[in-house]
Parts: sequence; structure tokens; C-alpha cells
Amino acid sequence: MIRVYANSEELSRGAAEFVAQQAQRARTDRGRFIVALSGGHTPQRAYELLAQPPLRDAVPWQQAHVFWGDERCVPADDPQSNQHMARRILLDHVAVPPNQIHPVSCSDSPIAAAAEYESILRSFFAKQPSRFDLVLLGLGENGHTASLFPGTPVLSEEDRWVAEVAVPDQDFKRVTLTAPVINQAAVVAFLVSGAAKAEVLAKVINGPPIPDQLPAQLIRPIAGDLHWFIDQEANGVLQYAF
Ligand code: 6PG
Repeated sequence: MIRVYANSEELSRGAAEFVAQQAQRARTDRGRFIVALSGGHTPQRAYELLAQPPLRDAVPWQQAHVFWGDERCVPADDPQSNQHMARRILLDHVAVPPNQIHPVSCSDSPIAAAAEYESILRSFFAKQPSRFDLVLLGLGENGHTASLFPGTPVLSEEDRWVAEVAVPDQDFKRVTLTAPVINQAAVVAFLVSGAAKAEVLAKVINGPPIPDQLPAQLIRPIAGDLHWFIDQEANGVLQYAF
């Protein structure tokens, strides 16, 4: 499903309300809300809205279990850290029990960090289906999502849930959830804003499948729902109905 908003503020509001609804539904149906957060700039305003009333009070934070879709291997207090961003804007302001917050720890090598995060996820899901209630994702101008970057070996991963990624020309490595585990989710939501994303968004949604070049095309929930939250600028080429 594609939802088009007039501007990025409306998109953020729509996405934040959607997160709150998904959290309530998961709590009602399954007694908890398991979410994977995305990094990047686009979700930050939505996180801010979730950290304030009225949405803050609508989310069952006590029953929330928070993971990350990907992490940049930088020090935990580096502004580029996805964990740091989510804590500063959202998690430091809501009542998620600290032991239900599961960041990727890159203190050792990215390979070790990926193996450790995989084992955290496997033990977490040991007694229940390995299914996030909600995975939030962004879209890069080069077609990446989470840290699934064009041409990287992680794109053909079938067994691992978490992998390390080296992106040429980036001075840090990354750790990412793989497409197979993201595709187990009940709901996956992409947030895409701005004219710079219009061309790639149209290719990802309407173009021929070339997932090695456009890794976001790998995301197709097996038995879940895929939602696109886009603003009118990102809609540019697609021209989906407003
Ligand atoms: C990251 C991400 C990444 C991001 C996109 C879009 O940590 O780098 O999780 O996949 O979502 O690059 O980023 P923007 O929202 O900043 O455009």
C-alpha cells in the first residue's frame, strides 16, 4: 500500500500514527510489540512525534521490544550511530524497559557484532515465530535499504539473519538485518521523503527487478504487509494519487 502525503511533516505524522496503531494492535493480538527501527534522517521527525503526547501515551511502551534494522559501526555516542539517534530522539523519552532495548554493539569487529546480534535475535525468537511486528526502513538514493547496499554479498544471504557490510568509500562498516528476516515481518514500512528519492523510488516500485542494483526490491514480506509512506516530492515520477 502506498500513502502519499503533502509534505515531510505530514508524512512523519502519518508514519508516527501508524507506528502507534501497529503497536496497539500487536499488544492486543500478541501481548507485545516487537519493532526494528531504521536510521537515517527521514524517520527522525516521526520518532520525535512518538516521544511526545498524544502519541507517546498511545504506545504500549512497557510491552515494546526494540531492535535496529541496521547500525553503523561507530562509537555508541557518535551522532552517526543509529542507536544514539533513536535513544536521543525517542527512547530516552518513553517508558521502554531498558532490558527490552536491543542495540547492535559494534565494540568488537563488525563480523563479531553481526554474529552477536544474530544470537540475540535467535534467543529472543526461540519460543515464538521469528517475526517482527513492524520493521521501519528508509530508502537511499542508490536503492539501498537498511544496510543492504548495491553489489554487496549480503544481498544473496539466505540463512543468516544479520550480516556485516563494507560499503566502498565509507569509513565505517555496517551491520544489517538480512532480507530473509525482514521479509518474515508482519508489517514493513518504508519512509521516503524528498525529490532526490523520486527517481529511485519509481524504479524500486515500478521498474524491472534488479535487486543487485536496487536492494530495496528484495523487501517483499512473505506473509505480511508492505507499506510505503512517501511525500509529494518523492512521488514526483510515480504520480500516485494524492
Ligand atoms: C542507515 C539506514 C539507511 C537509511 C537510508 C535513508 O543507517 O544508513 O538505516 O538505510 O534508512 O540511507 O536515509 P535517509 O532517511 O537519511 O535518507
